[in-house]
Amino acid sequence: MAKKPKPLDFHSKWSYAPAPESTDHVELKKSYGLFINNEFTEPLSGKYFETINPARETKLADIAEAGQADVDRAVKAARKAYDDVWYGMPASERGKYIYRIARIMQERARELAVIESMNGGKPIRESRDLDVPLAAAHFFYYAGWADKLQFAFPGKPGVKSLGVAGQIIPWNFPLLMAAWKVAPALAAGNTVVLKPAETTPLTALKLAEIIRDADLPPGVVNIVTGAGATGAAIVNHSGIDKVAFTGSTEVGKIIQKALAGTGKKYTLELGGKAANIIFADATIDQAVEGIVNGIFFNQGHVCCAGSRLFVQEPVADLVIRKLKDRIETLIIGDPLDKNTDIGAINSKDQLGKIKRLVKIGIDEGGTCYQPSCSLPSKGFWYRPTLFTDVTQASRIVQEEIFGPVLSIQTFRTVEEVIEKANNIPYGLSGGVWTDKGSKIFKVSSQLRAGVVWANTYNKFDPTSPFGGYKESGMGREGGLHGLSPYVNLN
Ligand code: NAI
Ligand code: MG
Repeated sequence: MAKKPKPLDFHSKWSYAPAPESTDHVELKKSYGLFINNEFTEPLSGKYFETINPARETKLADIAEAGQADVDRAVKAARKAYDDVWYGMPASERGKYIYRIARIMQERARELAVIESMNGGKPIRESRDLDVPLAAAHFFYYAGWADKLQFAFPGKPGVKSLGVAGQIIPWNFPLLMAAWKVAPALAAGNTVVLKPAETTPLTALKLAEIIRDADLPPGVVNIVTGAGATGAAIVNHSGIDKVAFTGSTEVGKIIQKALAGTGKKYTLELGGKAANIIFADATIDQAVEGIVNGIFFNQGHVCCAGSRLFVQEPVADLVIRKLKDRIETLIIGDPLDKNTDIGAINSKDQLGKIKRLVKIGIDEGGTCYQPSCSLPSKGFWYRPTLFTDVTQASRIVQEEIFGPVLSIQTFRTVEEVIEKANNIPYGLSGGVWTDKGSKIFKVSSQLRAGVVWANTYNKFDPTSPFGGYKESGMGREGGLHGLSPYVNLN
C-alpha cells in the first residue's frame, strides 16, 4: 500500500532561496580622481582614500581626497562656467541638459542601484525602487522649471540665479541627495561644486560620468570627493555664493557659524527624531507596517525616520506584540539579495554609534527587544531593535541614533501626545495613524515638524517640499520651495 504523503508544513523553517542581483554589468574603475571641468583629474593634494562595501568589508575603489587647492580649482571652474556659458544660455537650453541627465539616469538605473547598494549597504529593493527612480524624478521635475522661473515666482520679474552653489551631502541616500541638490541649482541657473560623503562617493562619481555623457558645458557641475576638511573648504571658499548642506546637526551648527555675516545664502537639512503616533482607532495591521517602514527603512539611516513610537494605551500591548512578531520575519543580510529587508550598517563608525546609544538605553533602564535572527560574520550589521520602558528624558528618546532602533512610549490623550511629540530639539517629520480625519488635522497642524504623514510614512515626491524646524535645520528642498534658495528675487 502506498505511503500517505506527509502534510506540508507551512509554519516552520520556510525561507526564501537567495535571489542576488548580478554585479556583472557594473563598471567601476580602480581609482577615481576629482571631477572638474568634465574630466577626472588627479588631486593636487596627491591623496587618496579607500571606499569599501560595508556588507563585506572589501575595497571597491580608491577615491581622491580634495585639498584646499583642489576645491579652489573646482570653484574657479564653476565660476568660469557660470560667467562664460551657463548664465547667458537660454533657460530652455539649460532645461534640455537637465532632462538629458534624467534620461541617462533612467537608462543606467540598474547599474546605479547596484552600486548604491554595494557602496552604502542598503537593500537593492530600496535602491532599485526608491533611490534611483526618485533621483531621476527630481531631475525631470526641475528640468521643467528651468524656463518657467517667472511663473514660479509671480510678481518677481527680477528673479536671477546666484552663481556658484557649494553642496555637501551625507551617506544615507547618496545619489538621491545629489539629485536634490544639483537639479534645483541647475534649473535656477547656477553652477555647482558638490561633495559626496566619504563613505559613499561612488554613485556621485557615476553621476559625474552621466553629466559628462550628457555633454554639459565643462565646469557646470564639479564633483570633489573627500571628508569633513574638504567640506569645510567648500563652505569657507569666498567664491561660493550659496551653501546647501545635509548631514548632522553638529556640523550644521559649525557651518551656520562659519557663514554668519558672509552674505552667502544657505540651507541646512539636519537631524531628526520623529514621532510616529498610533491612535487606538487606527487600522492596526496597517499601522504596524507603517511603523516598520518608518524605522527600519534604510537600516534607520533616515533623517525623517519614525524613531519615537507613541501608541495609545488601549492598543499598546497589541501593537507591541504584533511589532515583535513582524520584526521576527524581517530578512537581514546581503544588500544585493532581492529578498533582503534590512541591509548593512553604512560604516564601522555608525555601527559603533548605534551600539553606544543602545547600551546607554539599557543602562538607563530601558527594556531592549531584538529578534533571534543570525547576522553575517563579515560586514557591519545591527538587528532591528525595540525599546520599551523609556521616558521623555531617556537619551535614546532625545538623541538621533540613525540606526534600526525604535523607542516606544504610550499616551492617553491627543493633547498629551502632541506635547510629548514636540518636546524634543528636532522638528523634521512625524506620522499619525487614525481613522478620524479630524484627529489627523489637529495633530498634523500642531506637530512642530516640516512633514507629517497621515496613515502612511516615508512617502516622497519631487513636487513636495521637505525640511525642518528647530535643530532639524532651515530652508526647504523639493517642489517650488526648493527653487527659492537658489535665486535672488529682486
Ligand atoms: P556629518 O554631518 O559629519 O557628515 C555629512 C557630510 O558633511 C559629509 O559629506 C561630511 O564629509 C561633511 N562634513 C563633515 N564635517 C564637515 C565640516 N566641518 N564642514 C563641512 N562639511 C563637513 O555626519 P556623520 O559624521 O557622517 O554622521 C554622524 C551623525 O550625523 C549620524 O549618526 C546621524 O545621526 C547624523 N546624520 C544625519 C544625516 C541626516 O540626513 N539628517 C545624514 C548623516 C548623518
Ligand atoms: Mg561627522
